[in-house]
Amino acid sequence: MKKVRIVEVGPRDGLQNEPGELPTAVKVELIERLASAGLPAVEATAFVSPKWVPQMADHTEVLERVRRRPGVSYPVLTPNLKGFEAARTAGATEVAVFGAASEAFSKKNINCSISESLERFRPLVLEAGKSGIKVRGYVSCVLGCPYEGEVAPGRVADVAGALYDMGCYEISLGDTIGVGTPGKARAMIEACARRVPLERLAGHYHDTYGQALANIYASLEAGVTTFDASVAGLGGCPYAAGASGNVATEDVVYMLHGLDLETGVDLKRLVGIGRWICAVLGREPASKVNKAFKA
Ligand code: HMG
Ligand code: MG
Repeated sequence: MKKVRIVEVGPRDGLQNEPGELPTAVKVELIERLASAGLPAVEATAFVSPKWVPQMADHTEVLERVRRRPGVSYPVLTPNLKGFEAARTAGATEVAVFGAASEAFSKKNINCSISESLERFRPLVLEAGKSGIKVRGYVSCVLGCPYEGEVAPGRVADVAGALYDMGCYEISLGDTIGVGTPGKARAMIEACARRVPLERLAGHYHDTYGQALANIYASLEAGVTTFDASVAGLGGCPYAAGASGNVATEDVVYMLHGLDLETGVDLKRLVGIGRWICAVLGREPASKVNKAFKA
């Protein structure tokens, strides 16, 4: 059976946008439960400035406290060397840098231009290599920008290619505001695949306009086999007003299993985790599969 790898981003992309303060112990429990449901990668937290994203201020405690399962990776976001050093000290074995295909979003999100961000990431990737730490690279706004509107596939491919050439082992392509549609997603993937091997590309689709599953399907047809998703569809982006969460992991797993694609994820357990974290947060899961699922 063909395999698809799901990178669970709920504890980071999901929780970075929560209005209230969530106890560190709950975050740690969420990460551990997700790994125990069979997810091969659980993005744990972000070593970003607490002034910019207070929700991730407990990054060190989260990463240090998680009991790690063998074979599971726990990437953390690192925007610069300062964040990287803190992540390495806390025991990170995989980090992620995050750039954008739009200048305006880059400025709002990480306070620098695209080219400055690439220069910032270069020494980080070098340092990571010396410590045997893997680096994932994100590109945001691959199908549209909240400030600039349309983003040409060639601009996405340029940033994706620069991150790959620098040493990122995988490039995750983020439809940050969830405006993409399947034809555009496919064209964007095809442009990126001219610069980065297909098996090194991942789809990271937010579901603001309800297109994320369709975009995943189009990306699968284009040959992508890694997708990011967030349990119960938690999340959004603090620098993209109105953006909703990532595609819900439950919905992705249900679709992939229906296509006879293997994920290694136990859907029943995943649904339980989605219901539990939503009860803690006092909200309904944004996942249709979660709402419909009967054990
Ligand atoms: P800056 O203000 O330009 O940084 O922020 P600076 O270098 O000028 O330093 C200013 C202060 O911040 C200094 O402290 C630094 O020490 C401190 P002070 O001297 O004033 O006390 N500082 C830090 N503190 C903690 N951790 C750090 C760090 N770096 C500097 N790493 C910075 C630049 C990048 C730090 C800031 O803009 C930032 O933290 N941005 C993060 C924004 C963010 O987390 N966004 C959400 C994640 S991205 C996303 O969601 C998209 C994605 O899901 C894909 C998609 O959907 O498209 C990945
Ligand atoms: Mg995101």
